[in-house]
Amino acid sequence: MVAMNLLPIVLATLAVAPTAFASPLEATALEARGRTHNGKETTDRPVVFPYPLNTGKKFKETPRTTKTCFVDALGNGLDDGPNILAAAKKCNNGGKIALLDDLYMIRTPLDLQLNKVDIELQGTLKFVDDIPFWEKNSFKYEFQNSSSFIQIGGKDVNIYGGGTIDGNSQKWIDAHAANSWTWRPILVTFFDLDNAYISNINFRYSANWYILVHTCKNMIFDNVSIAGGTTSKNEPKNTDGWDTYRSDNIVIQHSKIDNHDDCVSFKPNSTNILVQSLDCNGSHGISVGSLGQYPKYYDIVENIYVFNTTMTNATSAGRIKVWSGEYAKPPSWVEGGGGGHGRVFNVTWDAIRLKNIDYAIEITQCYGQSNLTRCSEVPATLKISNVLFRGLYGTASKKYDPRVGSLVCGGPENCNNIYARDINIQPPSAKSPTFTCRNMDQSLLDIPCA
Ligand SMILES: *[C@@H]1O[C@H](CO)[C@@H](O)[C@H](O)[C@H]1NC(C)=O
Ligand SMILES: *[C@@H]1O[C@H](CO)[C@@H](O)[C@H](O)[C@H]1NC(C)=O
Ligand SMILES: *[C@@H]1O[C@H](CO)[C@@H](O)[C@H](O)[C@H]1NC(C)=O
Ligand SMILES: *[C@@H]1O[C@H](CO)[C@@H](O)[C@H](O)[C@H]1NC(C)=O
Ligand SMILES: *[C@@H]1O[C@H](CO)[C@@H](O)[C@H](O)[C@H]1NC(C)=O
Ligand SMILES: *[C@@H]1O[C@H](CO)[C@@H](O)[C@H](O)[C@H]1NC(C)=O
Ligand SMILES: *[C@@H]1O[C@H](CO)[C@@H](O)[C@H](O)[C@H]1NC(C)=O
Ligand SMILES: *[C@@H]1O[C@H](CO)[C@@H](O)[C@H](O)[C@H]1NC(C)=O
Repeated sequence: MVAMNLLPIVLATLAVAPTAFASPLEATALEARGRTHNGKETTDRPVVFPYPLNTGKKFKETPRTTKTCFVDALGNGLDDGPNILAAAKKCNNGGKIALLDDLYMIRTPLDLQLNKVDIELQGTLKFVDDIPFWEKNSFKYEFQNSSSFIQIGGKDVNIYGGGTIDGNSQKWIDAHAANSWTWRPILVTFFDLDNAYISNINFRYSANWYILVHTCKNMIFDNVSIAGGTTSKNEPKNTDGWDTYRSDNIVIQHSKIDNHDDCVSFKPNSTNILVQSLDCNGSHGISVGSLGQYPKYYDIVENIYVFNTTMTNATSAGRIKVWSGEYAKPPSWVEGGGGGHGRVFNVTWDAIRLKNIDYAIEITQCYGQSNLTRCSEVPATLKISNVLFRGLYGTASKKYDPRVGSLVCGGPENCNNIYARDINIQPPSAKSPTFTCRNMDQSLLDIPCA
């Protein structure tokens, strides 16, 4: 059912290895070519292309940059934001913004509207942990009442360099534990961006989602590392790796994620998205949704392929979460929802290794509604069809042993053509594994429904 073109699309010419310093003469020559600054050297843009699978849609080459704007870190905790914004202005339309110093502190909301720009980040970009400042000054989005430190939009953008974007999250983690209304910024939001390649970047210590891909198209994330943590007794919350929303043709690949919520989450209107060769630890799975939260929108998640991925220490591996047919709000949640419409169509999880997972597969249409009697009285209407779970193998945790999955649809008419094939999950007790299946066509499910 899936036709993937295995030929990679090469986006740029092969990277040239950076020249090592041999003599002052060479150094001067490099300086003249605008590659070095204060003894540090910029590198060539990495080659980024989807592999081994692709989305079947084209990715375009981005033009070479012709000038470089170096930003010197001010140090002493001073705000480097204004200088970064100035460089983004000066080097817009064909330049490279080079952030080669060890540490840039940010106390300015960074709205980067870029055209044909590379950002080379070698050091760390760290946001000051001034909660009242960011509550007032972060970028705000209607969807799930979210906010962000930084938003990047425009066209033909590359971000790379081996550096780190650090959300400095500890204060927010503790403030959120005391008051769940604390407005916690998303680390980076890509908003209205087309044709962009994000590679070799580390995302650290987010107070909320790490990466929101909002109204974007034609993006590749490659060799990204995501990790955070806490030094107090309070756990990080809602630290999704990626959330895609109103976005099309996105690839997320060859990356390592260590977090406490969805590794990748396909939110409303996510289409043609490929996730491959990820290593997710500690997550809530690679998830469709939540969907159907807001009745005023129709939610579409279509043509999603998740391939060759390892899920460790997660609550679920493949998950679809849909709000119930009417508004509900668990007491501890900030926001409720339900009663929305839409469809999930053509979604595949293929070749997924599991280690210590509560549920290999989880489908719910009662998200946010803890009263399951009530949920069955007012079931969701959102339709789920043409979904395939194939080649999921490994070990479950002891949480629901010997149950290793739950596929529960709100009504028999809601879920069609849901397949499970080559599923081999061992619970720790070594008992025969079971799955809960409700309102599903069990002839298509090659799993022990009980
Ligand atoms: C959005 O969140 C902030 C911070 O939690 C809160 O003050 C605000 O009332 C929320 N807005 C809506 C519409 O829920
Ligand atoms: C991935 O990125 C890191 C820097 O974050 C870099 O050291 C490493 O070489 C990259 N790996 C590949 C395969 O490019
Ligand atoms: C699967 O992903 C792993 C890394 O997670 C990689 O080493 C391997 O080459 C990938 N296999 C395929 C078929 O792409
Ligand atoms: C993976 O997640 C578990 C549970 O959240 C955590 O204890 C462990 O340190 C994580 N491992 C890595 C390599 O981050
Ligand atoms: C999703 O796309 C459909 C069709 O274009 C549109 O009607 C709907 O409002 C969109 N939903 C969201 C959440 O943007
Ligand atoms: C299903 O999605 C895959 C990509 O994941 C795509 O190649 C295929 O054409 C889609 N099939 C249909 C029927 O749209
Ligand atoms: C999974 O969690 C356990 C215990 O929490 C930890 O020992 C293990 O290292 C984790 N796995 C990975 C890959 O981090
Ligand atoms: C759950 O829903 C049922 C059916 O609507 C209702 O009778 C019951 O009181 C509800 N239970 C709770 C705890 O609200």
